[in-house]
Amino acid sequence: MIKKIVHKNKILEDDFNKKDHWEHIYSDKQSNEVSWYQSCPVYSLDLIRATKFNTTAHIIDIGGGASTLVDCLLDANYQNISVLDIAHSAIEQAKLRLGRRANKVNWIQSDITQFSPTLTFDIWHDRAVFHFLCDEDDRSNYVRVLTHALKPDAQVIIATFSLDGPEKCSGLDIIRYSPETLSAAIGNTFQLVETNKEEHLTPSGTSQNFIYCRFIRV
Ligand SMILES: C[S@@+](CC[C@H](N)C(=O)[O-])C[C@H]1O[C@@H](n2cnc3c(N)ncnc32)[C@H](O)[C@@H]1O
Repeated sequence: MIKKIVHKNKILEDDFNKKDHWEHIYSDKQSNEVSWYQSCPVYSLDLIRATKFNTTAHIIDIGGGASTLVDCLLDANYQNISVLDIAHSAIEQAKLRLGRRANKVNWIQSDITQFSPTLTFDIWHDRAVFHFLCDEDDRSNYVRVLTHALKPDAQVIIATFSLDGPEKCSGLDIIRYSPETLSAAIGNTFQLVETNKEEHLTPSGTSQNFIYCRFIRV
């Protein structure tokens, strides 16, 4: 039975467990079967290149899941890559695919809203994770972690569903953003410098509109 509790005027289903949800998704499906799959994450790579950091930059992919971004970064000789995900099963899928190359990556299993970084980063990349944070406390924890985890001249790349994108992902509610509302959500410590749109085609052929935003820390 789902027990409901009231918290700050919101009804929360307190037995919904984020980690279990995502573990289940990746135990059930291969990385190329999930709706967010990209064989090559070109929009992310373009914005990472646009930061002008060199390949020794410390880069973290938030909610990287089993994404192929890490493969492409290794191909491009990035030397200090971290991938964080709440789901152990997602990380295991990515490691299995990479084989021995997985040893070159710092893998972190954590909920981003509770992450305590031991390193600081030059580039923070998040595709399709921030938009799941529908709770205001989760968003402010994300921004607190983001602020602590970054070097002074760091850059942030966040991709979310756009205002005309889907209303749900993976069966969960999400928040859709414009570059302006995303910018407001992460606060004025970060200045928006570049935006892009992607019409993503899921493996089943459905179109999903994303925005990609690059911010610099000011
Ligand atoms: C829609 S998928 C996107 C995966 C990947 N970024 C990509 O673009 O292919 C969302 C990912 O975020 C992870 N995730 C969801 N909530 C999270 C959280 N609070 N902390 C860390 N990871 C989370 C999920 O396990 C999943 O891998």
